[in-house]
Amino acid sequence: MTDQDLRLSRSPHTTAQRLLNASAARSYDPATDIDWDTPLLDDAWFWPPERLALYGTPLWERMDHRQRLELSRHEAAHIAQMGHWFELAIIRMLARHLMNRHILDARAFYALTEMGDETRHITMFGRLLATLGCPAHRVPAHVRLPFPPAAAAFQDITTFTSALIVEEVLDRLQREAAQDERVQPLVRSVCRLHVAEEARHVSFARAELREAVTHAPRGRLAFHRHLTALVASHTVPPLLRPDRYGDLGLAPGEARRQARHNPHHRATMLWCGEKLIAFLTEADLIRRPQHHLWRRSGLLA
Ligand SMILES: [Fe+2]
Ligand SMILES: [Fe+2]
Repeated sequence: MTDQDLRLSRSPHTTAQRLLNASAARSYDPATDIDWDTPLLDDAWFWPPERLALYGTPLWERMDHRQRLELSRHEAAHIAQMGHWFELAIIRMLARHLMNRHILDARAFYALTEMGDETRHITMFGRLLATLGCPAHRVPAHVRLPFPPAAAAFQDITTFTSALIVEEVLDRLQREAAQDERVQPLVRSVCRLHVAEEARHVSFARAELREAVTHAPRGRLAFHRHLTALVASHTVPPLLRPDRYGDLGLAPGEARRQARHNPHHRATMLWCGEKLIAFLTEADLIRRPQHHLWRRSGLLA
């Protein structure tokens, strides 16, 4: 393959057309492709134990097996709830993006296809949350409230980078959970379906970002590097660190403190960010001045 062939195969238009074909050939409907009658097993984990934010902490060591399984149920509920909200945010960002561009090409059609996927995923996460039987929590106000005004400044670069942050981080965790035979079959089915469709969203966002960076003037690019890093530092910790400890009878402040300082949890966050950080650095969307914000997100060492 020549350089020009490679450039063409990675162009946003070619990528979007390929993803449209792939979506037409294989898309999922969680209402029928997931067996919601799958019974919850009595002795299965709801999430891989090593990925729980409290794994290995003094609090974890004091819990018996039942309490640990219960903790994993609440942590799976947290991921479902945050996935639910962040995908609503992605739909909103994509809608705003489409309202400002030509809407009759493959790239716009694929963005609409992705919005359709996310609508089904949101329903799926909501249904999983209801099945898990954990109380619903609102997404923290410090994430929820600044989003609408901040999103007005996102344009294409921060829109696609923000989508990519959520998608790549969840992808890493869900890919592992889908393959873990210790995890509840229902949770594994949800993760499997989500991973399959999110792989296409990740390809789309990456192609759009490469294109946007190529055409962005230097000042605009610098602005979006900073804005993207702020988004990451603000959203990744609450996405990956559950705030449901009170529901389990644990002292919330102490549990949160132990999770925040937990070396296992820190290693999980870095692992979640590996591919994302490598891509954004290569795409010139992370430079040294943003490192402190990316470190605060937990995704960069
Ligand atoms: Fe999704
Ligand atoms: Fe997605």
